Amino acid sequence: MSHSDICIAGAGLIGLSLALELHHRGISVTVLDRGTPLSESSTAAAGMLAAADPDNPPQLRPISDLSIQLYPAFLDRIHSLSGQRVALQTHTTLQALPLHVTNAGNILTPQDLAHLLPSLTPGDHRFILLNENSLDPRQLAPALLAAVRATSIDLRLNTTIHSVESHAGSVTIQTSNGPLEASQFVDCTGCWAATAPPSAVVPRKGQMLSVTLPPELLLRLVVRTPSIYIVPRTIDPAVTPAIIGATVEDAGFDKTVHASAIAHLRSQASALIPSLSTAPERETWAGLRPTTPDRLPLLGTFPNQPHHYFATGHYRNGILLAPATAHVTAQLLLGETPSVDLSAFSPSRLVSLAQ
Ligand code: GLY
Repeated sequence: MSHSDICIAGAGLIGLSLALELHHRGISVTVLDRGTPLSESSTAAAGMLAAADPDNPPQLRPISDLSIQLYPAFLDRIHSLSGQRVALQTHTTLQALPLHVTNAGNILTPQDLAHLLPSLTPGDHRFILLNENSLDPRQLAPALLAAVRATSIDLRLNTTIHSVESHAGSVTIQTSNGPLEASQFVDCTGCWAATAPPSAVVPRKGQMLSVTLPPELLLRLVVRTPSIYIVPRTIDPAVTPAIIGATVEDAGFDKTVHASAIAHLRSQASALIPSLSTAPERETWAGLRPTTPDRLPLLGTFPNQPHHYFATGHYRNGILLAPATAHVTAQLLLGETPSVDLSAFSPSRLVSLAQ
């Protein structure tokens, strides 16, 4: 039976980022995936590193800030292993607040807004400016995969997990391609929740579209309200696409794109920036967000399964939280004190689901 120090289930952004962090620390790692790497939420996302989004649960802020701190080194490591440099696409976000919020500080004046984005129609929103970056997950994903492939990480695709059995000091993983043994196991399978209790992590669908921005619309920042975001991809001087997202739906694993949902997204975006109503459509798609009952990630172990970890359930913030999740999960696995308090993310809070 093959043995590695740590076996990770799920070759998405979280699983591969963790694999890279562990490899960097000299640990032998096997990553299993039921299909192909980075093919689901990791490449469906818009790529906002939205640590200060007022709609995030407040418990996310410390780990979000840690991830923002770790992002430059994370991208540098990917670059040095893969030769691929992942660019930051935007550096600021115009964040809408409901009109009743008057104490947010630094609410932009109509003059500020006219200067920043002359075509914006603020309507019933107030706006603040956030120093927030975004990147293109479809650029990050191949670079991360190339980085992983440049290491000795054992990446096994098309491999389904049948069971994970904990023993004193090790785990045995039965898979469609035979058994393997590891000292510890980490489930990073998102809403596929290969080894989580039923209902601990479920899919929440997001439909989105991308458009080609008209050349006269110089959109170089993200515009976000509680119900919509517009995220330009800015680094190609010839063409500027923008992502418009996203619905939030409980539709199981269905990823059908509905014209009515896409039209609604576009009409919401056009209410903010009228020229988006005629911007040519490039693509439509849907992704599945891994969602826990309290919308917080699942990081750590259940009390009765000491070698069986979870690093999953990142809901709307998987791209943002990948570097910090890799960092703190590696710390947990190696018996170190995590850099931020993880008690809000402990699987113990969902223990009734596990019984
Ligand atoms: N990360 C953006 C979304 O969940 O739609």
